[in-house]
Amino acid sequence: MARVLIVDGDRSARVRNAEMLRAQGHEVSVATGIAEALERSEHDAFELVLLGGHGEGLGAASEPERVQALRAALPAATLVLTGNGGSLDAPLDALREREPLVATVDEALASAGGRAPRAHEDEDTGSAFAPIIGSSPAIRELLRLVAKVADTDSTVLVTGETGTGKELIGRAIHQASRRRGRVFCAVNSAAFPESLLESELFGHRRGSFTGASAHKKGLFEHADHGTVFLDEVAEMPLSMQAKLLRFLQTGEVRAVGSEAPRYVDVRLVTATNKDLEREVLAGRFREDLYYRLAVIPIVVPPLRERPEDVPLLAHHFLRRFARKTGKVVDALEPAALELLQGYSWPGNVRQLENTIESGVALCQGSRLSVADLPARLRERPVHAVPDTLQSLETLERTHILRTLERVGWNRKRAAEILEISTTTLWRRLKEFGIEAHGASVGRL
Ligand SMILES: Nc1ncnc2c1ncn2[C@@H]1O[C@H](COP(=O)(O)OP(=O)(O)OP(=O)(O)O)[C@@H](O)[C@H]1O
Ligand SMILES: [Mg+2]
Repeated sequence: MARVLIVDGDRSARVRNAEMLRAQGHEVSVATGIAEALERSEHDAFELVLLGGHGEGLGAASEPERVQALRAALPAATLVLTGNGGSLDAPLDALREREPLVATVDEALASAGGRAPRAHEDEDTGSAFAPIIGSSPAIRELLRLVAKVADTDSTVLVTGETGTGKELIGRAIHQASRRRGRVFCAVNSAAFPESLLESELFGHRRGSFTGASAHKKGLFEHADHGTVFLDEVAEMPLSMQAKLLRFLQTGEVRAVGSEAPRYVDVRLVTATNKDLEREVLAGRFREDLYYRLAVIPIVVPPLRERPEDVPLLAHHFLRRFARKTGKVVDALEPAALELLQGYSWPGNVRQLENTIESGVALCQGSRLSVADLPARLRERPVHAVPDTLQSLETLERTHILRTLERVGWNRKRAAEILEISTTTLWRRLKEFGIEAHGASVGRL
């Protein structure tokens, strides 16, 4: 039976539908409008959302906006319009209120998961399913992609800077797929020394190495019929890459110290904040494995490239931390919001999340103000691009300086990012009269 959310402005429609679905054994929550629906979706991973057509009182201005808000909050859920609209999810066309709702629900669930998902079967490890928040075109495109690829078994490669939400996307793919309710495992390839990583993923037999005092099942076997999220895949040593490739080609798991292979059905989602193509060119990552992993590439843009997501995320985190701490902080002062939107967020969504957490902890009133935010956000970036016309040379100089600052004046790293040789970088610095760390900052 499924967890269903009914969103309807009309009381009698709400009650009628809820009663009918409860009688069928579904777990039903109701919301009178979009705001309440979003609130509920933070606590519950609904599998199905029935959105009524009784527009007045629902909150958001238009139906597409309501749909979009729900989609963003519950990317994995099947959305059905029970009112005057059609269905959004392809197999559920032309649903009308008068059609038997119960049949509709079963059909929706069947087409969403290939089988009716059973509640409480969810063995997901780690934190519970969290919604992907955002309304920027980039995030909307990303959600569309997640929904589209979820039911394939193709491997997905998620790339993006630290804290952009790569793991969240891995979870969303799992949740939206027929594998939901099965195991989702996230493992960080960089967290294990090579030999341990192999036994972590593939398992080992007792006595296969010093310290292997018992048989151990590997993650791939543990996650059979589920999804494994392999983080920082670029850090994987070449010999492990070969083993991973063999696994992807054959589905064969060979425990360390064992001759007998086992076959498992695992969907692999990998992630990295490195440019994997560059790693391939540098000979640090196998090209054949790269193509195998990047069957479906998903790029998560940094937060600074989608400032319109900042208010949504900030309010989302504000609600979450207010609830967690029991404080009645329920709004952001306009000046605080402006500050958040103007910042560059090098640590992306994770940094915003931490900033709001500390802000809520410090906040003494009911509105988060500028004083509750770290002073760092108020500092204007030293090398902000001026809004005036300037020469190419000035632009180049500014860009080189900014890059050097971002990498802590590591010239080798800066040259890599700028895609010039260290010699060229050195020559440029000389030409621009930039001698040492920070020496020229005041001259810009
Ligand atoms: N669009 C989003 N909506 C809501 N929360 C988000 C979103 N993006 C990221 N987060 C939150 O930000 C934090 C960081 O996300 P996540 O761990 O998925 O990032 P990551 O890209 O895997 O980072 P890293 O590269 O450091 O491993 C998490 O708490 C996650 O829930
Ligand atoms: Mg991660």
